[in-house]
Amino acid sequence: MSKESWGSRVGLVLAMAGNAVGLGNFLRFPVQAIQNGGGSFIIPYLTCFLLMGIPLLFVEWSMGRYGGQNGDHSTPFILDSMSGRRRWWKYVGIFGIFTNLAVAAYYCYIESWTLAYVWRSISGAFSGQGTEAVSQMFTDYVSLGTSEPIVFWVICLLLNTWILSRGLSGGVEIAAKVGMPLLIFFGLFLAIRGVTLTAGEAGAIFDGTEGLNFLWTPDLSSIWDFKVWLAAAGQVFFTLSVGMGSIQCYASYLRSRDDVALNAMSAGWMNEFVEVVLGAAILIPISVGYLGIEKVVELTQTGGLGLGFRTLPYLFQQWGPVLAAVAGLAWFGLLFFAGVTSSLAMGTPIMGFLRDEFGLSRERAAWTFGATVLILGAPTVFFFQYGVFDEYDFWAGTVSLVVFAMFEIILFAWVFGMDNGWAEINRNADMKVPAAFKFIIKYITPVILISVFLGSLLIDGGIIDQVTNKALHEELAATTDPVQRAFLEEKRMFVNGSRMLLVLIFAAIGFLVYRAQQLRDRNGGQRLERA
Ligand code: PHE
Repeated sequence: MSKESWGSRVGLVLAMAGNAVGLGNFLRFPVQAIQNGGGSFIIPYLTCFLLMGIPLLFVEWSMGRYGGQNGDHSTPFILDSMSGRRRWWKYVGIFGIFTNLAVAAYYCYIESWTLAYVWRSISGAFSGQGTEAVSQMFTDYVSLGTSEPIVFWVICLLLNTWILSRGLSGGVEIAAKVGMPLLIFFGLFLAIRGVTLTAGEAGAIFDGTEGLNFLWTPDLSSIWDFKVWLAAAGQVFFTLSVGMGSIQCYASYLRSRDDVALNAMSAGWMNEFVEVVLGAAILIPISVGYLGIEKVVELTQTGGLGLGFRTLPYLFQQWGPVLAAVAGLAWFGLLFFAGVTSSLAMGTPIMGFLRDEFGLSRERAAWTFGATVLILGAPTVFFFQYGVFDEYDFWAGTVSLVVFAMFEIILFAWVFGMDNGWAEINRNADMKVPAAFKFIIKYITPVILISVFLGSLLIDGGIIDQVTNKALHEELAATTDPVQRAFLEEKRMFVNGSRMLLVLIFAAIGFLVYRAQQLRDRNGGQRLERA
């Protein structure tokens, strides 16, 4: 059995930071913050980070290291090894593979936009174009007017698969060591440009600080709005990659004497730096500087993740052709590196599972991941217009994380037991974990998680409304135009279809977990030893 592990501590922390730092930091965070009122988002966000994010980082890192010692590198059998005789826990672990595959399916598509936009920026495709034209270029792009999006998408998939097939120290670690420093360098360049933007200079109407003030002036008016809390919790999960299964998987390749406490904090805080310092200082200040807050708020309501593609290339043009190309390269290049290092983290859990349980070689496991993402991702590419992408994001990128995190923290604190858990977190720790976290992990985090879950079931636009397609039906009821109605009917079909596809994938992973257990049983409870 090959004992794969990380090459160095720096490599590990950079890979984990690369896992966390992703499109979520630069595209999702600013949009979430604006949609939820700027200053009113920050307090819930930071609270969720301290009371859920950090505890879950400790938990997931130590779960991973614990599982890795038994040779388990994916959540089904990591949970199994921690739950004693309660055999059904391994099926909870399906989430830890499912989420990564389903998120990768739409994430790799956004990643490919960034590559295409790097190319467009340096080839001068935006020069001389007006606001409308630049925004329209994005609309045309995702409506697949040409085959360009498909070509870039396939290139990205091949690249990710190839890096994964080279393994951790020979692939993932190298990508992180190259990508992370470049990303921070590009990010600092743009953030400085964003913050120092002054009204009147290069066509800007407001100072860059206008956008920052909007974000950072605490606003207590919506502090009791549950929706804002839900959005904040969702963002903390997504950006830290907790509740996904990918941290457990990366951590399972630690050596048993390695520290988890300090490493978890280094990677986690690095992510927060990139998110609230760099992520907040680029898209918002620059867009607000040119467009004003009202316009930017309006754009996030309709544009979502597309905002950074629709507006920034045009705004960069105001800095003159050379700086525009440099800024475009920096912005889309940093997004690209952020995307690649995260999608590698999404590939590793399924690979670990297939290698552990079914003896696949690393290369085969990587190509299996690539092929699955190609199939699962195709509907998000071809039927983007019909909301397939958003459907994936809702179930895999939002709901699953909360559900899985809720189960795993109960397992860790109450089934495995908090005393055992605390000992695991502190074993060989290079820092002293504040004792308060023992209490927080045992009581506070589970209670908040359960409330978040229950709330998200019932809230307007929550899980129940989504299942019944409430918004879509309301829209249908209000529309008389036959063309628009036909479109909505089609949309409903695609949304339901993509949901079924997700259920199918979930069931298929469940079946593989079941098979894996059968194989183990046949082998006297042991995983097959393979050469
Ligand atoms: N944390 C990543 C981001 O912020 C997303 C991610 C999801 C990474 C799942 C790994 C696994 O974009």
